[in-house]
Amino acid sequence: MVKAIVGAEVLDAKKIARREAIRKGLFWACWGVFIGFAGVLGASVVRFIYPRIVFEPSSIFKAGKPDDYKAGSVTLVTGRRVFIVRMDKGVYALSAKCTHLGCQPIWYEDQQIFKCPCHGARFTKEGINFAGPAPLPLPRFYLSMSPDGHIQVDKSRVVSMDFLLEA
Ligand code: FES
Repeated sequence: MVKAIVGAEVLDAKKIARREAIRKGLFWACWGVFIGFAGVLGASVVRFIYPRIVFEPSSIFKAGKPDDYKAGSVTLVTGRRVFIVRMDKGVYALSAKCTHLGCQPIWYEDQQIFKCPCHGARFTKEGINFAGPAPLPLPRFYLSMSPDGHIQVDKSRVVSMDFLLEA
């Protein structure tokens, strides 16, 4: 039988092996904790360097010239979720976001109404809700003319339902 003398204690091979196993287990457990901690720290550093930022387009944008829209037309500005409605006397902009749960309404030229494909809300050409679950009209956005003659939409400013940019 193999024996060793540790301090004043005489250990046999089983005890030696058990202590060695415990020592190795502690060693790898410490490494595991260290690697886990380093991983969390590393992830925090990466998150600090590359924070979660949502880059949204500006709320103010140009939507072409008034003459680009024919009288009576409703045009969706792609990527902006805004309808430009051209009337004889001017132009107005409606939000293309249903006031129920935010789906994008669709303009039906033949019926002259907006219909929301999600839950069936209906809006007039002026954006007024008249059927379905939408609780409010489609917001109308402020418009102005840019110095170079373009319609400028400001989605951050909601205006009254009778606002019209004369153009
Ligand atoms: S999101 Fe338009 S009716 Fe529900």
